[in-house]
Amino acid sequence: MTRIVVLTGAGISAESGLGTFRDVGGLWSQYDLEEVATPQGFARNPRLVHDFYNARRANARAALPNAGHAALARLGAAMGDDLTLVTQNIDGLHEAAGSTGVIHMHGEIDIALCGACGARWTAPDEMAPEDACPDCARPATRPDIVWFGEMPYHMEEIGARLARADLFVAIGTSGEVYPAAGFVDEARRTGARTLEINLEPSRGRFDRVIAGPATEAVPAWVAEVIGAG
Ligand code: OAD
Repeated sequence: MTRIVVLTGAGISAESGLGTFRDVGGLWSQYDLEEVATPQGFARNPRLVHDFYNARRANARAALPNAGHAALARLGAAMGDDLTLVTQNIDGLHEAAGSTGVIHMHGEIDIALCGACGARWTAPDEMAPEDACPDCARPATRPDIVWFGEMPYHMEEIGARLARADLFVAIGTSGEVYPAAGFVDEARRTGARTLEINLEPSRGRFDRVIAGPATEAVPAWVAEVIGAG
């Protein structure tokens, strides 16, 4: 039995119309990461940060999953628990394509979090600094997004899955952000083969690279694994 861990990044959602971060014209060339994606930025100007994520949420809710997401959903249906799908993406496009059990290590744009009591609820289209938490009523609500300087979610479970993996596959991620960028080394240490699927190969250390747009390269790889379906 082959166990596969797939890590996806912004590149898999690019052809659904959601911008990536570090490509030319990407989000981090339009916005100052320190101002919109750190706890310090949020403390300085919560409205700016809410507005940034309100725009991300509007885009994500309007987007449709593409053939790359759909192929991974087929792979999950065929492999069950032998596939672990970890995403750095905050959009819900894997779920919209039919994937279940997706591990969102950087949080989800569709969820609101109370910074005071830890309550979580479905995020409204627009969030604002004065919004009250439905549980504790304090105006400390934030999007449930992992910011720079915060610990990504589910790291223990991801580590356990990587340790058992036979194959690790990174799809549409630049490999610039840790800890996700280190998963390839972690997987290799315990004997997994490694594959990168990306528009252009990153600087990562992979055994095999498939270069191409996610909507073509991911279905082609999934067909290799489980047949064209
Ligand atoms: P990046 O923007 O850093 O990288 C996107 C990658 O996708 C690049 O390597 C592109 O070559 C590739 N790519 C672009 N279009 C593609 C396509 N159509 N098909 C396949 N690949 C394509 O995005 P991430 O690596 O996801 O974190 O960024 C990692 C984290 O940095 C994000 O989760 C976010 C960001 O700051 C937080 O906000 C905490």
